[in-house]
Amino acid sequence: MSQRSCLSVILAAGEGTRMKSALPKVLHQIAGLPMVAHVVKAADSAGASSDAIVIGHGAEEMRKAVAKFAPKAETFVQEERLGTAHAVLAAREAISRGYDDILVMFGDTPLIDAEALNLARLKLAEGAAVAVIGFRPPLPNGYGRLVEKGGKLIAIREEKDCSEAEKKIGFCNAGMMAVAGAHALKLLDAVGNKNAKGEYYLTDIVEIAGAQGLDVVATEASFENALGINNRAELAQAEGIWQARRRQEAMLSGVTLLAPETVYFSHDTEIGADTIVEPNVWFGPGVKIAGGAKIHAFSHIEGATIASNCDVGPFARLRPGADLRNKAKVGNFCEVKQAVVEEGAKVNHLTYIGDARVGAGANIGAGTITCNYDGYSKFFTDIGEGAFVGSNSSLVAPVSIGKGGYIASGSVITESVPDDALAFGRARQKTIPGKGKELRERFASARRRRRRRLAPITDGQSAAAVSRPKVAVTSILPTMALLKSSRSSAGIQYSRWALLPACSTL
Ligand code: UD1
Ligand code: CA
Repeated sequence: MSQRSCLSVILAAGEGTRMKSALPKVLHQIAGLPMVAHVVKAADSAGASSDAIVIGHGAEEMRKAVAKFAPKAETFVQEERLGTAHAVLAAREAISRGYDDILVMFGDTPLIDAEALNLARLKLAEGAAVAVIGFRPPLPNGYGRLVEKGGKLIAIREEKDCSEAEKKIGFCNAGMMAVAGAHALKLLDAVGNKNAKGEYYLTDIVEIAGAQGLDVVATEASFENALGINNRAELAQAEGIWQARRRQEAMLSGVTLLAPETVYFSHDTEIGADTIVEPNVWFGPGVKIAGGAKIHAFSHIEGATIASNCDVGPFARLRPGADLRNKAKVGNFCEVKQAVVEEGAKVNHLTYIGDARVGAGANIGAGTITCNYDGYSKFFTDIGEGAFVGSNSSLVAPVSIGKGGYIASGSVITESVPDDALAFGRARQKTIPGKGKELRERFASARRRRRRRLAPITDGQSAAAVSRPKVAVTSILPTMALLKSSRSSAGIQYSRWALLPACSTL
């Protein structure tokens, strides 16, 4: 197979109105990667050396996205959406460069795998001019039907053009096909638009090739492989299938997933053998785990590198740039961002480590925060090997703590601490015997006096008749002062319910 050159032409010009989205349909993601990028990956693993992506709707956004996920792919604009054959011809320039095989694929069919594509390419290698990928969906409605005779594919009939007998065929067109490069342009140029939709159907090349005496065959892929995404429910369905495949792969490669259906992988998650993943763990893009790690429940990990035998979570958040070296530990309710936690270091509870290095074997106490941001710039905190940071300390960056440095609990550290030094960054405690009791008594008697002053007014009684609240209310609450003045000028009656809520804030 590898000696045959191959171009993929990926159709992605459609709008995808049923997604009800400002984003072009094929840029919606599966496992954190646009679905069209999954298609490019499949094409490349089936041996495509070049990829031509046909864009139209949202062309600018598409171009930018393609430059990121497939920088070597070319894009071709289909100005008007006149049908799938017309769309393939938008990439005429690429096709005419001359390839043995042309793989035509749809950008909205992200679960197609290399095996299904290779099978179609194999048919070309055996002499077929066209090999169409078919599948058997639970309900064939809406799909083109594959009409076969004597083991040969003689036509693909779009549902709108089907006879009643043809509608009963369960073998359907997945949309993708392999076309011999030598015949591709000649076949595509012969396609007309005399059909129910007035479109240039790619599927017509089957009959055209047959009429020219060329060999046309159908191969069969699984329903999952051929699943096309038209709305967000199908997007979620595809995500589910992708995740199930990935979990299976992870487990077979030696990773323990305690509750596989609750673990979410990204397209590029790397996870080594003997890692144990507890329930409800999310791996965002860019995660690499060497192996032997324990990832405890409810951890959220993205853009992080985790070396051997680390311990993470439960409820840990590792953000991009978190770099845990061997046997490092990041425990519950800790967040680590853009920071190296060196070998054997422990960040166990309720801590934020951002833009920092935590030296080997250092111990970071509960509630420690690196204050890395002043609202404008980020600053670095360097914590030396074997340092001990007492609980509830704030390390105001830029700052460094030397090797073996010792920080007293509750410190606010604003100046660097030399190796092996002890630093206190807090006010000294003062203890006054008996003063607590005295304060309590003073506060209690003040409260009793206040309550006497604010005794409630009985319903219907004229507020003017109550003399005591006047002073307190006018002096403390402007709103109540207003009430008082309007009360005296207009002689309005107030109930205790009008007065009490405001007074209770005194
Ligand atoms: C197509 C097939 C049908 C098959 C089904 C499988 C044709 C004529 N029909 O039908 O046999 O069962 O897929 O899902 O091929 N596109 C363009 N430009 C266009 C038209 C389409 O880029 O002018 C792209 C779309 O963005 C989409 C793909 O081609 O990615 C398929 O087009 P769509 O209109 O969805 O084809 P179906 O009617 O589903
Ligand atoms: Ca479709």
